[in-house]
Amino acid sequence: MITVKTIEEARNQMKSWKKEGYSIALVPTMGSLHEGHASLINRASKENEKVVVSIFVNPIQFGPNEDLSSYPRDLDKDSILCEKAGAHLIFAPETSEMYYTDMVTGVSVQGLTTGLCGAKRPGHFNGVCTVVSKLFNIIPADKAYFGEKDAQQLAIIKRMVRDLNFDIEIIGCPIVREDDGLAKSSRNAYLSSKERQAALVLNRSLTKGKELLSSGEKSTELLKKIIRNVLQNEVLAKIDYIEVVDAMSLNDVELVNKPILIAIAVFIGKTRLIDNFIWEA
Ligand code: PAJ
Repeated sequence: MITVKTIEEARNQMKSWKKEGYSIALVPTMGSLHEGHASLINRASKENEKVVVSIFVNPIQFGPNEDLSSYPRDLDKDSILCEKAGAHLIFAPETSEMYYTDMVTGVSVQGLTTGLCGAKRPGHFNGVCTVVSKLFNIIPADKAYFGEKDAQQLAIIKRMVRDLNFDIEIIGCPIVREDDGLAKSSRNAYLSSKERQAALVLNRSLTKGKELLSSGEKSTELLKKIIRNVLQNEVLAKIDYIEVVDAMSLNDVELVNKPILIAIAVFIGKTRLIDNFIWEA
C-alpha cells in the first residue's frame, strides 16, 4: 500500500492503473478510521482490483462552531487499518493541496439538503458535495463506497452523481455498530464513560420505533413521539432532530406507505451523534 499527498501523484498512479485495465474503487473518509470505515474498504476490495482511501478532514464542511480543530487525526493508525482492510493507496492531501485560497467554485444540491442535518448544519452539504466532486475528478474510480450511517449524505451524493453525470457507481453500505448497539463514529471518541453509556439511548429509541412499525403503526407523528419519549428519558441527551422522511426524496411523510428513513441527531453533552434506519413498508 502506498500513501500519496499530492493530486499529481494520485493522478499518475490512477493513469497507470487505468492503463493496466484495473477496476478502481474510492472510499472517501475524514480519517480517524474505525470498523465502519473498514467495512467499506473491505467491501470495495472484494468488488474491485484497486482500492483508494482518501483521508481528508474537509474544512469547508464544518460550521464555525463545529469540531474542525479538535477532529481526531492519526494517519499512522489509519494506515494500518487501511492496509488490513485491503486498500492499495491512501490519498491524504493537506488543505492547501485541495483548495486554492481564491477558490470560487462549489457544488450544491438543492431540495435534499434542506432538512435533517442540512437544516441544522448550514453549508455542510455544499462542502461535502464540493469535496466529493473534487475527489471523483482526482480519482476516476468505477465505484465509490459510502455508509448508510450518513443516510442523507448518501442520498445527496447519489442524486449529485445522477444529475451531473459522474461516471461512477455509488454503493451504500450498512451501519456498523458496537456490540451494545451504538453506531460506530469517529466522534464517539469525544464521549466520557458516562456519556458513552448515555449514547446508547439513540439506538434504544430507534429500536422502540422499529417495534412500533412492526406492530403495523402507520402514523409518523406517533412514531416520532415514541422516539422522543425514549430520548427525553436520558438526562444527558438533547434532541437536535427526529425526522421521518421519504427514503428517496427526503420529503416529510405523514403515513408509512413507502420506504421511509427514520433519522435522529442527538447531543450527548457537547457531542452531536446521528443514527437512523430505513423501513421498507
Ligand atoms: P467520515 O465521517 O469519515 O465517513 C466516511 C464514510 O464512512 C462515510 O461514507 C460514512 O457514512 C461511513 N461510515 C462512518 N461510520 C460508519 C458506520 N458506523 N458504519 C458504516 N459506515 C460508516 O462522511 C464523511 O467522512 C465525509 O463527509 C466525506 C464523505 C469523506 C466527505 O468529506
